[in-house]
Amino acid sequence: MRLHLNTSAAFDAPLIPQDQAAFGPSVVAQVRERLARVPHRPTPLHGLPGLAASLRVRAIHVKDESERSSLGSFKALGGAHAVIRLVLREAGRHLDRSLAAADLDDADVRAVAAGLTITCATDGNHGRAVAAGAALAGCACTVFIHAGVSEPRAQAISAQGAHVVRVDGNYDDAVAAANREARERGWHVVSDTSWPGYEEIPTWVMQGYLVMASEAIEQARTNDSMPTHVFLQAGVGGYAAAVAAHMALVSGLAAPRIVVVEPERAACLLASAMAGRLTRVAPQEPTLMAMLECYEPSLIAWRILERRAHAFMAIGESEALRAMRALALPKAADPFVLAGESGGAGLAGLMAAAASARAREQLGLGPDSVVMVFNTEGATDQDRYRELLARVEQEA
Ligand SMILES: Cc1ncc(COP(=O)(O)O)c(C=O)c1O
Repeated sequence: MRLHLNTSAAFDAPLIPQDQAAFGPSVVAQVRERLARVPHRPTPLHGLPGLAASLRVRAIHVKDESERSSLGSFKALGGAHAVIRLVLREAGRHLDRSLAAADLDDADVRAVAAGLTITCATDGNHGRAVAAGAALAGCACTVFIHAGVSEPRAQAISAQGAHVVRVDGNYDDAVAAANREARERGWHVVSDTSWPGYEEIPTWVMQGYLVMASEAIEQARTNDSMPTHVFLQAGVGGYAAAVAAHMALVSGLAAPRIVVVEPERAACLLASAMAGRLTRVAPQEPTLMAMLECYEPSLIAWRILERRAHAFMAIGESEALRAMRALALPKAADPFVLAGESGGAGLAGLMAAAASARAREQLGLGPDSVVMVFNTEGATDQDRYRELLARVEQEA
C-alpha cells in the first residue's frame, strides 16, 4: 500500500462554481426524475460491526451497489442518465421546445431519438449502462471494447441491444475508435471520462451517481452514523469525485475525509497528486480490478479531487482479494456482501490503512472513526467472480 496526503495548494479550496452547480443537492430531484424509467432501486447501507471491531474503528458502513439493478453496479445510473439528458437536449433542439423527462414517450421525441446513434468505449460496466439508456430512449448504440474485456462482459452489453465492436489494443484504442467513428458518422459520444473541451456529457454521467451519494447520506443521517472517513475506489475518478463533491456541498465543514483508492498498477490520480497536475501513467500489467484500470484521470474528477481528497492510496492485488474475502466470508454477525473484483477496492484501502500505525495517524483513523465504503459492483462477470472467490477461499 502507498499513501500520499494531499499537499496541493488547491486542497480544501471551494469547488469551482460550475462543479458546485452540477453536484449540489438541488440537482438530485431532477436526476431522479430522469432516471425514473430506468429500472433500479435504492440499495442498502449495511453495518459491519465485526469488521469494525477488528480494524479498531467505531463503525464501518458499506453501501451495497451490487443490488442497484440487474446490471449489478452503480454505473447503471451514470450512463443511462447521460443518454436520457442527451436525447432530451437533441430532441428539444430539433423540435424547438424545452423538454422534461416525461416527454421521453412523446412520439415526436421518439422519432428524433430513433435517428440518433450513441457510442462509447468501455471496460464493461459503463458500456452496459449506456446501452441500457439508449434502448430505453429508442436510440441506436455502438459500444467499443478492447482486447482485454471478457466475453461475458461483452455479451452483457449486447444483451442490452447494443452493437459491440472489439478493437485490438487497450482501453485507449477503444476510446480512439469510438471518437473516430463518432466524428465520421455524426454519432454522439457518451464518455464517463472528460478532457479539455469535453465536459458536459461526462458531467451528466457523474450526476447519475448522485442518486447513490444522496441516498447514502440520507441513510447515514437516519442511522445517526454520518461518516468521518469515506474510502472511494477510482478508475478515471468520476465516481469518487461525484461522491466527494456532493458530500462537501451537503455537509460543508462537517464533510468527511475522502481517501481515494486505486490499484497500484493503474494509480493515475495518485500520480497526479504527487506531480501536482493531471498526469497520465504508463500502462502496466493488467490489474484484477479491471474496472479501475485507467491510466489518465478525468479532467473534472481531478479538478474536484485535488480540492476535496484528503489522501490518495494505491493498493496491491492481494489487498483487493483480501477485501473480497472479508465481504464474502464475513465476521460474526456481519452480512454477506457480493463484491466483484473492483467493488471491494474501497474497503481494501481501509483495511490496508487500518493495519498501518503510520497510515492510521496520517488519516486520523481511530476508535471514534465512522467509515463509509461503497461496494461498487457485484458479480458483473460471474465466471471471474467464481474463479477469484475460489482463490480467496483457498487462501482463507
Ligand atoms: C465497479 C466499478 N467501480 C468503480 C469504478 C470507477 O469509476 P470511475 O472510473 O468513475 O473512477 C468503475 C468504473 O467503471 C466501476 O465499474
